[in-house]
Amino acid sequence: MPQLLLGIDVSTTGAKALLIDAAGSVLGVANTPLTLSTPRPLWSEQDPYEWWAGAAASVRQVLAETGVAAADIAAIGLTGQMHGLVLLDDAGQVLRPAMLWNDGRTQAQCDEMRARIGRERLIQITGNDALTGFTAPKILWVQEHEPDVWAQARHILLPKDYIRYRLTGDYASDRAGGSGTILFDLKTRTWSPEMLAALDIPASMLPPTFEGPQITGVVSAAAAGETGLVAGTPVVGGGGDQAAQATGVGAVEPGIIALTLGTSGVVFATTPTALVEPQGRLHAFCHTVPDRWHFMGVMLSAAGSLQWHRDTLAPGVSFDDLVQEAAGITPGSEGLLFMPYLTGERTPHPDPLARAAWVGLTIRHSRAHMTRAVLEGVAFGIKDSFTLIQGAGLGSIDQVRISGGGARSPLWRQIMADVLGVELVTVNTTEGAAFGAALCAAVGAGLYASLPEACQAAIQVTGRTQPSSQAAIYAEHYPIYRSLYPSLSGAFAALGALA
Ligand code: XUL
Repeated sequence: MPQLLLGIDVSTTGAKALLIDAAGSVLGVANTPLTLSTPRPLWSEQDPYEWWAGAAASVRQVLAETGVAAADIAAIGLTGQMHGLVLLDDAGQVLRPAMLWNDGRTQAQCDEMRARIGRERLIQITGNDALTGFTAPKILWVQEHEPDVWAQARHILLPKDYIRYRLTGDYASDRAGGSGTILFDLKTRTWSPEMLAALDIPASMLPPTFEGPQITGVVSAAAAGETGLVAGTPVVGGGGDQAAQATGVGAVEPGIIALTLGTSGVVFATTPTALVEPQGRLHAFCHTVPDRWHFMGVMLSAAGSLQWHRDTLAPGVSFDDLVQEAAGITPGSEGLLFMPYLTGERTPHPDPLARAAWVGLTIRHSRAHMTRAVLEGVAFGIKDSFTLIQGAGLGSIDQVRISGGGARSPLWRQIMADVLGVELVTVNTTEGAAFGAALCAAVGAGLYASLPEACQAAIQVTGRTQPSSQAAIYAEHYPIYRSLYPSLSGAFAALGALA
């Protein structure tokens, strides 16, 4: 019986293919970079054909580099960037570039959704307020601004599900991703007739949805030809990248928090029922695990802030060297604070017009201070989400598992532990969402009875970072950080209008 699992992750930056064995050991990984298009301010788009070409190339590469026989792959799990809108015509052709999770053009459509449905009802049904990142307002935008495209559209898919369509020929989605459209009824884990009616979206345009480990279809002969996979290999639901990332570090039980420092920064908590934060400040979505849900706070530019800072002010300098400079600066960066809202923000300020800033610059401050302020500002932004999760009535927080590119830096982990005032643990798995998707495949293939069982077998704690005496310094800075956004949001909006 085949024993290997393939996870495919279509993120914003690359299409990744990860091959693991049933015990969770990584056999190989391949990544094909993807390009992002920002044709206008606030717009963010990608070409679904490029996703598929990238995914197929990465699968071929991982098979070639590991020498694994494709027939040994028991099942495939899919994950990818959430909330993106892919529109296909009745022949399955892509109608326009996909509008992505970090596209901020739809504020008017979010307002329109609140007007049509009522904000409270919206949160009651979907678990979420209307935010520009989500899928539903993007659909309204196309209805309004591109009626010709809308008239031809027959299928609405998420990015990962476009890969599924090319891989299997089936229109299908997972429930973690489905709930991220905010067209979903969070409690019943299916499309909400009330939401669809309010937004004039025919139910026939939406695919059937499946739980993370459920099989949704099998690899087609055409896709086998393009990828080197074997036709008939099962493909499971998988999950949106955040639920899959949490699965990949074993955050599948209430009490275990996943903190991810990727391009975006996420604080993720599993919930045993469809809990909702009454003001919609936290996202509430389905988990990859059947019968589990999750809360999530999302900051849009976490490690993305450091990347921008490096690329703009220290091009050619390695992240390690840049962060090393910051290690020599005292906590608090000598009175310098960074607001990490480079691409607007979601939690706790749902504002696409929020902007980044260093506040408190003096002639004494160097690049090293600015770098340290970036690391600290991201930690303060993460604390905003963490505090909301702590106050969401979930019971005790037993463990916080930190992962993502930013978590590789010991200095950033320490700042994060000091700012949050909790111990952070690292785990043996570093392939994030693709790993979680592969674990979904392991359960779908019958190698484990459940996702918690698969996580138990594959994931172990490898390191611990305790808060230090410097936590007290950050406790003094945090209220000042909190005061910045309310003071500056009016100016950000006015600047946005001028730009
Ligand atoms: C989650 C979110 C991002 C994207 C990008 O709500 O918008 O994590 O999924 O990967």
